[in-house]
Amino acid sequence: MRQVGKRHTVAATRVETAQVVLPGYTNAMGTLFGGMVMQWIDVAAAIAAARHARGPVVTASMDRLHFLRPVHVQQFVIVQAEVSFAANSSMEVEVNVLSEDPWTGDRATTTHALLTFVAIDEQGHPRAVPKLDTETPFEKRRFREASRRRAERLRDRERLQAPSAHPRKRHA
Ligand SMILES: CC(C)(COP(=O)(O)OP(=O)(O)OC[C@H]1O[C@@H](n2cnc3c(N)ncnc32)[C@H](O)[C@@H]1OP(=O)(O)O)[C@@H](O)C(=O)NCCC(=O)NCCS
Repeated sequence: MRQVGKRHTVAATRVETAQVVLPGYTNAMGTLFGGMVMQWIDVAAAIAAARHARGPVVTASMDRLHFLRPVHVQQFVIVQAEVSFAANSSMEVEVNVLSEDPWTGDRATTTHALLTFVAIDEQGHPRAVPKLDTETPFEKRRFREASRRRAERLRDRERLQAPSAHPRKRHA
């Protein structure tokens, strides 16, 4: 059984889910529907964030979402998520999605996304999360970069929350 340690490492948040592309999951071109992938991404990322927060989390934003290759019926879809950054109550989760050929085992990256989750208490108010222990040079660099991305997202949110950002006002 997986041991829940006292340290709050990136590795302790790591999640991998697997799906098979069924015909009902496809778009008009017969390839995997992007909205389906987004749901799988959101669920895997939420589990990674909840592992770090040790409690309920909500999705605050999803960005840097790139669909790089189509995925076909019968292929496996592997969703890998891990917490890349934690601030006070918010966490960034990086998600990579791979397709896997069921017969050869060949894998290719198909989708990438960054999500921000906020840990919440019983009233739905933001709740503090533990500090994230970064271990490898990659994790440390990504943490620093994520801190800059957080600042950009907060600027975006401020712009979207401004009364002048209302769609009717924008077109006035
Ligand atoms: C996310 C939410 C809890 C934030 O609550 P809030 O009262 O606005 O909180 P604050 O302004 O104090 O921000 C709290 C944290 O969220 C982060 N945050 C808030 N909105 C964000 C956004 N759009 N993108 C990235 N981070 C965001 C802030 O940076 C802050 O992080 P920190 O505590 O680590 O410094 C609230 O906006 C909410 O409930 N949104 C709806 C969530 C939802 O329904 N998701 C879909 C279903 S899960």
